[in-house]
Amino acid sequence: MSHIQWFPGHMAKARREASEKLKLVDIVVELIDARLPYSSRNPIIDELVLNKKRVVVLNKCDLADPIKTKEWGKYFSSKGLNVIEISAKDGKGLKQLQDQLKLLMAEKMTKLREKGIKNKPIRLMILGIPNVGKSTLINRFIKKNKAQTGNKPGVTKGQQWLKLGDEFELLDTPGILWPKFEDQEIGKKLALTGAIKDTILNQEDVALFGIDYFSRYYKKQFKKAYRLTDEELNLPNSELLIYMTKQFNLNDDYNKASEKIINDIRSGKLGVYTLDDVIDLESVEYD
Ligand code: G4P
Repeated sequence: MSHIQWFPGHMAKARREASEKLKLVDIVVELIDARLPYSSRNPIIDELVLNKKRVVVLNKCDLADPIKTKEWGKYFSSKGLNVIEISAKDGKGLKQLQDQLKLLMAEKMTKLREKGIKNKPIRLMILGIPNVGKSTLINRFIKKNKAQTGNKPGVTKGQQWLKLGDEFELLDTPGILWPKFEDQEIGKKLALTGAIKDTILNQEDVALFGIDYFSRYYKKQFKKAYRLTDEELNLPNSELLIYMTKQFNLNDDYNKASEKIINDIRSGKLGVYTLDDVIDLESVEYD
């Protein structure tokens, strides 16, 4: 889905589809990228989800800076949100997520049991921007619960429910919302992590942003990955890109070198990292 160009018409349609799906479920699983807990959140999510029960799920925790993940966890909790850390790719945190989902529904389930309604599955949908791991999480959920992917007819035409054990039913297509377009920096962060794909922004700009960020905040791992000395690390970003291009034996193909750096960062070859800071958000809020 990452190739979508988000024109206003597409945004209105995505919003409409998401709100239609919302009506069918008990809980929304809002998936965000733990490396970008601010930048990978859709701006209208609070308004859209409103009174619906929700769990904020920080995905791709295997790639994110664990100290910052904890800070973001505290931040979301302080806003009254339920938050869980997972890595959908390897299934880590899935049990905690399911426990949290059950906990959120416990009161309602007790009331239903008192009325004689037993074994009513909790209905879920996953919501998030493209590439945040929605399909991966759906597949993990299915595997974990060894559920049949054979579908049960849904309540609405076109909607399909995946049965996850006896306790959950999941809409098989997630809600997809658009990413933030607020400013260039957010765009570069989204591009660097792979949330938006490569044709949208200039590769060299994205790589230079990565070089700048890592040489400031993740110096040690950056130096180690590319065997850089302190002197080389202190070069201006564009000169460092020129130097690294030579090191990669790519002559003056800066585009290819940029691509390599971006891929290394995306895949975690430079180690774990998080590009959003709670503190930046708090300073925005208090402005
Ligand atoms: P979407 O449905 O929200 O659009 O996202 P999707 O599940 O397709 O995931 C997008 C990419 O993120 C995939 O990589 C997927 O493997 C990766 N991913 C999802 N969850 C995790 C996670 O917890 N940790 C890590 N490290 N990666 C995760 P891809 O490169 O597009 O595909 P592939 O390499 O898996 O084939």
